[in-house]
Amino acid sequence: MKKVRLLLTTLCLVFPMMLMAGDFTVGKNTFLLNGEPFIVKAAEVHYPRIPRPYWEHRIQMCKSLGMNTLCIYVFWNIHEPREGQFDFTGNSDVAEFCRLAQKNGMYVIVRPGPYVCAEWEMGGLPWWLLKKKDIRLREQDPYFMERVRIFEQKVGEQLAPLTIQNGGPIIMVQVENEYGSYGEDKDYITAIRDIIKETWSYSLSPCLPDSQEKNLPVLFQCDWSSNFEKNGLDDLVWTMNFGTGANIDHEFARLKELRPDAPLMCSEFWSGWFDKWGANHETRPAKDMVEGMDEMLSKGISFSLYMTHGGTSFGHWAGANSPGFAPDVTSYDYDAPINEYGGTTDKFFQLRRMMQKHSKEPLPAVPAPPHVMISIPPFELTERADILLGADSLVMDSPLLTMEEMDQGWGSILYITTLPEITSESVLTLNDCHDFAQVFVDTAYIGKIDRVRNEKSLRIPAVKKGQELKILVEAMGRINFGRAIKDYKGITESVTLTSEQDGHELSWNLKKWNIFTIPDNLATARKALDAAKADPQPHMMFKGSGYYRGYFDLKKVGDTFLNMEAWGKGQVYVNGHAIGRFWSVGPQQTLYLPGCWLKKGRNEVIVLDVVGPSLAAYAPSMAKNLKKAQSKKAKSSNLSSLTPHPSLYPVLFAQNHPELDKLNVEKSRTHNNPGDCPDLNSKSPALNSQFAPGNGWQTVRFNAPQTGRFVAIQALSSQDGKPEVSIAELYVRDAEGNRLSRESWTVKYADSEDLRRGNFTGDKVFDLQESTYWRTGKGVALPHILVIDLGAVQTVSALDYLPRVESGAPSSIKDFEIFVY
Ligand code: GLA
Ligand code: CA
Repeated sequence: MKKVRLLLTTLCLVFPMMLMAGDFTVGKNTFLLNGEPFIVKAAEVHYPRIPRPYWEHRIQMCKSLGMNTLCIYVFWNIHEPREGQFDFTGNSDVAEFCRLAQKNGMYVIVRPGPYVCAEWEMGGLPWWLLKKKDIRLREQDPYFMERVRIFEQKVGEQLAPLTIQNGGPIIMVQVENEYGSYGEDKDYITAIRDIIKETWSYSLSPCLPDSQEKNLPVLFQCDWSSNFEKNGLDDLVWTMNFGTGANIDHEFARLKELRPDAPLMCSEFWSGWFDKWGANHETRPAKDMVEGMDEMLSKGISFSLYMTHGGTSFGHWAGANSPGFAPDVTSYDYDAPINEYGGTTDKFFQLRRMMQKHSKEPLPAVPAPPHVMISIPPFELTERADILLGADSLVMDSPLLTMEEMDQGWGSILYITTLPEITSESVLTLNDCHDFAQVFVDTAYIGKIDRVRNEKSLRIPAVKKGQELKILVEAMGRINFGRAIKDYKGITESVTLTSEQDGHELSWNLKKWNIFTIPDNLATARKALDAAKADPQPHMMFKGSGYYRGYFDLKKVGDTFLNMEAWGKGQVYVNGHAIGRFWSVGPQQTLYLPGCWLKKGRNEVIVLDVVGPSLAAYAPSMAKNLKKAQSKKAKSSNLSSLTPHPSLYPVLFAQNHPELDKLNVEKSRTHNNPGDCPDLNSKSPALNSQFAPGNGWQTVRFNAPQTGRFVAIQALSSQDGKPEVSIAELYVRDAEGNRLSRESWTVKYADSEDLRRGNFTGDKVFDLQESTYWRTGKGVALPHILVIDLGAVQTVSALDYLPRVESGAPSSIKDFEIFVY
C-alpha cells in the first residue's frame, strides 16, 4: 500500500494535473471553472421525486433546456428511515444520480441540509428525532447535532469522492437551508459548516492540496435578500432565493453593497409554486419566468431554476406548510417547465428559446419520452379489508400517546375508550388532532375533525355507560417550514368531553385508552387483505374505510394517471410502489403512475381509503342498486356515510392526462362574511399615514401602543392609482418593538380576495413567503380592508409591511389606516 502511494505521489509530482480533474472557484464577480468565468445555469430536480428508471431522461431534458448543472437536495429522512439504518440504494442512490449527471455532461450542486424544506415531510428531517421529546431541531441540541454529524458523514462517504477536485461533477455544496427564515444562530450555522467541511474534505488524489480548504467544493448559503445577513458567515458564498417576477436588482442590492466583488447567484428562482390540499392550483406566468432568467443571464448572474422539473412526492413524502396546517398535494408539478411526468410544456419551449440566445452551441435535441401515455379502462377492486385488520401494535389501558411514542412514523392511529353515562349531548374536544380524525360511538359515525380547517371539536349525542368512543386519526405530511416543524402526529395532548347537566358544566378528561397503530406501508396493506381473504366476513366497522385490492391487465405499458375523484382520502400502492396520497377535496384528482412501475399482464392496485369511496366509485349499474338499497335503509343520501354492500365493488380507472386543478371543497375559502366586517367608523385609528412607493420592508410606528385581538388595515388608496391593492407579508410588533409570533394568526375578514387569477387569499400575508401575496379582485373599488385575528389580545406598537417583490411593487398601498381593537 505504501509503495502504491509513493508511486502515485511521484506521478503527481511529475504530472501535477493528472489526478486533479478540474476545479471550480470564486473569482472577481464570477465563478471560475478551471480558471475561466462560468455562469451556473442549474436545474433543480429531486431524485426521490423521479422514478430511478427515468433519472437519465429527466437529466437530458434539463440539458436540452441549456442547463449546465443540476441542483439537488439530499433528503435525510429517505436515507435514514430508522435511527442508524442507512439506505443509499435504488431510488435513494444519490451517488448514482450524480454519476448519471456527469455522464450527460452536467455539473452538480449538492444541498445536503440537514434541513431542506422542499415541501417534503418534516423538511427532510427524520420523524424519529421527535422520539426525544425535548429535542431542539435545527439548533445546537446535542442529540440533534450528533445525528446530523453521523448523517453528513454518510453523505460525505457517498458524494465527496464525486467532487470536481476528485474528477466528479460536484462543484458546490450548500450549508443548511434558508436559516434566516427560521432563526438567528450563527453558532449553529458555524457548527453545520464545520461538519460539512469535515465530511467533504476528502481526496482521491494522493497529491493533497496544501490546505483542507482547497480540497473542498465551493461552500455556500442560500437565503432571502431580506434576511441573509442574520446568519451569513464570512467564509461562505452568499446566494439569494426569489421567484418569478421579482425585482432582480433589488434582490441583489444589499449583497452588492456588502460584497462588491462577489459573484451573484439566485440559488432558487421559483418557476412556479406548490399546491396544497383544498386550495387553488398554483401557476406562474411563463413570460415573467423567462424574462427574469434572461435578465440574470444578461447580467452574468448564475441561477438555479427551482423547480425545472418538480416530479412527484410519492408515498407519504409530501410535507405541509404553516402557520395553520396546509398539507401539500402529492404532485410536485410546480408549474415547472418540465411537467410532473417529464413532458414538455409551453413554458419549456419559451425557456428553451431564450436559453438558446445565451448559448454559442445549438442546444441538445429534446429527448423522446421514455414511455407513451396510456389510459386504463375501469376495473373492479373486489377484495377489501377492514382498516382495523391493518392494526400493527396495540397498547391497552394507556394514557394518550402520539404516533411517535408508539414508534410509528406514518399512517393512521386508532384510539378507543369506554365512555361513562352522559345523559345529554356533549362536546368532544381533541387537543390537538394531527391531522384528520373520524369519530365513532360504537359503530355509528359521528363526524370528523380536520386540522386543515382548524377544527377541534364536535358534538356527541347522549351515551350510555360502556359505549365505546373510537377516534381514527390519519396523519398527513409533517410541517416542513417555520418553527412548527416539530409536528407530532396522532392526538398530541388530551381528549375531553364537556356537557351541561342541571345548569352545571361537567367535563371529562378521557385518560384510559386502547391504542392501535395502522402504519402506512405495503406490508401492512397486504397483511390486512390477506387476513380478510382468510376470513371473508365483511367487517366494515368504519363506514367504507379500509383496504381495497384489484387487478388490471396491460398489453402495453405506459405512463398514466389514476383517477381518484370518486374515492375519499388515503394512499395507493401499485405493484408494491406507494404512489401517493389522494383526497377528494382536490385540487389534485389524479395520481401519476409511471409506466416503469407497470408491467405487461397483471398489475396489482391497493387503495387504503380511510374515509371510504363515494357512491360514484361504484360501477354505474351497481351504483344505482346501491343507492336504492341505501335509501331503503336510511333516508339520508349522505354519500360519505354509505356502508358498501359486500357484493358490490368500487372501480378505478386511469386516464392519459393529469387533473391537478379541480377543487371540491365544502366551504368557500374567502373571508368576506359581512358579519365579520368591523364597524371602523366607531373606532379611532392607531395610525393614519402613507407607505412609501417601491420594493422592500417598511415599518410604521403607532403614536402609542394599542391593545386588542384584531388588527385591521384599511387601504384608502394605491401607489398606482388603481383600485386593486396587495400585501406580500405583514408583522406586528409588541410594546418593546419585537415582532410577535404569527403562529396563531387567522384572517378574520377581507373585503375582497382574488381567487380568479390565482391563490391570493388574505392568509398569504402571514404564510412566511415573501413571493406570495393577498390581492383584491380585479376592479373591486377602494377602500379595502384586511382584518387579522392575532389569536389572543396583544399590545401592538408598530406594523411591518412588505409590498410585492416585483419591480415597482405593483398594487402597493399608499394611504392607509390601521385599527387595533
Ligand atoms: C424555499 C425552500 C425550498 C422550497 C421553496 C418553495 O425556497 O428553500 O426548499 O420549499 O421555498 O417551494
Ligand atoms: Ca406571503
